[in-house]
Amino acid sequence: MNETQKDILKYWYAWIYEQDEDETLMAQYLLDQLGPKPLRILEAACGGGKLCLPLAKAGHQITGIDQDKYMLDHLHRKAAEHSNIQAIQMDMLSRPWGSGYDAVILGANLMVNIVTERDSKCAQKNLLERAYDALKTGGRLFIDYDCPLEVSKWHPAINEWVCFEGTDDHGTHGRYVVIPGAASDRTRVISGSRRWEIIPLEGEPFTYTEKRHQYFPALEQTCAWLYRIGFTVESIGGGYQGEPFDNQHRRAVIWARKTIL
Ligand SMILES: C[S@@+](CC[C@H](N)C(=O)[O-])C[C@H]1O[C@@H](n2cnc3c(N)ncnc32)[C@H](O)[C@@H]1O
Repeated sequence: MNETQKDILKYWYAWIYEQDEDETLMAQYLLDQLGPKPLRILEAACGGGKLCLPLAKAGHQITGIDQDKYMLDHLHRKAAEHSNIQAIQMDMLSRPWGSGYDAVILGANLMVNIVTERDSKCAQKNLLERAYDALKTGGRLFIDYDCPLEVSKWHPAINEWVCFEGTDDHGTHGRYVVIPGAASDRTRVISGSRRWEIIPLEGEPFTYTEKRHQYFPALEQTCAWLYRIGFTVESIGGGYQGEPFDNQHRRAVIWARKTIL
């Protein structure tokens, strides 16, 4: 993929994600949990701001970090009238996040979708360490991610499926296709790939395929990391509407508090 194609693909993907992905339920849940008192909040991988923008609108002071310029462009456009939100473009695993935050948000399934060259377990643990460093003592960490009992049963699709399809405002038509691969219950790794099929308004159609290895930490693993780093786990749920974390409800919704200096 050349630079022009990369630009077209990334613009299209950020546009379609903005159109098609709905994080309203999670945003409302966060608003309820954080309460009305204005807080200093950091969201890692804020993207187009579906979570952090409602928090800014509710009066919280927001810092969002994300490495994707195209995603951040959506946040900048939507946040133009809000002076209490700043977005910083950076790889969240390579630069410091600042400190003294009341809350850090690792939402929208970030734990299993970190873009990195590193081993995903190391990256996940490092994400939690960075959240710890960014929080003030007593500050709260929010994590939510898909946490299947057996990863082999999580994505039972044998055939590839279209996750996003549509035409952006530049006239580029695209499809984002998920291609299932192997899933190991022993390692909790799902391997597969993603294919972007892009038809620009002008120029040749092209495709781009990326391999993915997603490690899905068990709840026990994530909690062990949190305790080792210095957090206390305060609550674990299975969804945003008070569901318990059980065999039916496997969206791990975790609140932890920074307790050790
Ligand atoms: C699910 S999307 C964002 C969802 C977001 N709530 C929104 O409203 O768009 C995940 C985001 O994680 C970001 N991301 C993944 N790995 C990253 C990394 N290493 N550094 C910074 N951002 C990263 C991607 O750029 C992407 O914007």
